Amino acid sequence: MILVTGGCGYIGSHTVVELLSAGNEVLVLDNLSNSKVSVIDRVARIAGRAPRFVKADILDRKALDEVFKAHRIEAVIHFAGLKAVGESVAQPQRYYENNVAGTLVLLDAMAAAGVKQIVFSSSATVYGDPEVVPVSEAAPYRPASPYGRSKRMVEELLFDLYAADPEWRIAVLRYFNPVGAHPSAFIGEDPNGVPNNLMPYVTQVAIGQRPELSIFGDDYPTPDGTGIRDYIHVVDLALGHLAALTALSDAPTCLVANLGTGQGYSVKQVVDAFEKASGQRIPVKITGRRAGDVPCYFADPSYARTRLGWTAQRGLDDICRDAWRWQSWAAAHPEEL
Ligand code: NAD
Ligand code: UFG
Repeated sequence: MILVTGGCGYIGSHTVVELLSAGNEVLVLDNLSNSKVSVIDRVARIAGRAPRFVKADILDRKALDEVFKAHRIEAVIHFAGLKAVGESVAQPQRYYENNVAGTLVLLDAMAAAGVKQIVFSSSATVYGDPEVVPVSEAAPYRPASPYGRSKRMVEELLFDLYAADPEWRIAVLRYFNPVGAHPSAFIGEDPNGVPNNLMPYVTQVAIGQRPELSIFGDDYPTPDGTGIRDYIHVVDLALGHLAALTALSDAPTCLVANLGTGQGYSVKQVVDAFEKASGQRIPVKITGRRAGDVPCYFADPSYARTRLGWTAQRGLDDICRDAWRWQSWAAAHPEEL
């Protein structure tokens, strides 16, 4: 059985679908601080069977011990964490407590139960503003926020753990910009309040919840002046976790892999692609740059290809089509969320 912390969240829920579809038994552990338990039913609708679910916090050692005692867990995929960059600047202790201390408690509980296999959700944010694009895993750490530093700390913790006990099997996955939704439309990104990220903002404008998109700066040194990112379809990202688990099943190791497409798109290109995929017009206004934003980065995904045998298969049109399907379904079925 695979334990998925944060499995009710955006990336976790898509990964649980793929794990179940591939025949795995899955136990989701989530404190529901940024998700809804209804996602379990929607995951079951897609996969044809439900994962088990425990409402618990990764900081709760007793709850974790009970989980490891009650179930034969082979590996953990660890998504649980807080992820809002701006919020992490305002509330650093909360981020270090949840993301770093929470992971320490989880790792202790795993070690006590003899479970030494973990896939960890890290982020391309550990690279900060990279000197060279595409960004390879060898690029130096330059995280620019408490959130980014919490990811770096957990990465280093995992490296030290492996150095001390090489029986561990560890995959650190650095995600670029996860977007899109499951093509069934039953699960997708469902942010609380005003979305921080581009794609959910665009879909909320398209559905009429918000009047227009603010483009944060069109004076960057990029071809059309807007920021460039590596947008990866969340289903491709989910499949990257299955590939990582397979790689870990070979032998003890500690690997670090970028999960991105290798292709960057500007904000304007995303808006154009979305308008085409959805048939909706997205009114935009250009505003000033957002503090902390970098002009351009995208992944060098070659290590994931060779080491994990994984590459992203879905493009920007798939991303926009599936994000729009999800937004449309969610708006029409508020009682199911
Ligand atoms: P999400 O907020 O949708 O999912 C995280 C889940 O973890 C939520 O269901 C939340 O309720 C749960 N959770 C949070 N703290 C918990 C705790 N202490 N105990 C138990 N459950 C807890 O976020 P997501 O986008 O699915 O991100 C998943 C992981 O991937 C996070 O670690 C995030 O930092 C990382 N990541 C996300 C992105 C992105 O852009 N979405 C990019 C890079 C990395
Ligand atoms: N943008 C806008 N308007 C918006 C929102 C975003 O123009 O309303 C622009 C940004 O300026 C940027 C691009 O769209 O150029 C993407 O912005 P996002 O907020 O969607 O994504 P970021 O690249 O800023 O950050 C995301 C996650 C971080 C993660 C990082 C790297 O939010 O948690 O990717 O993986 F660390």
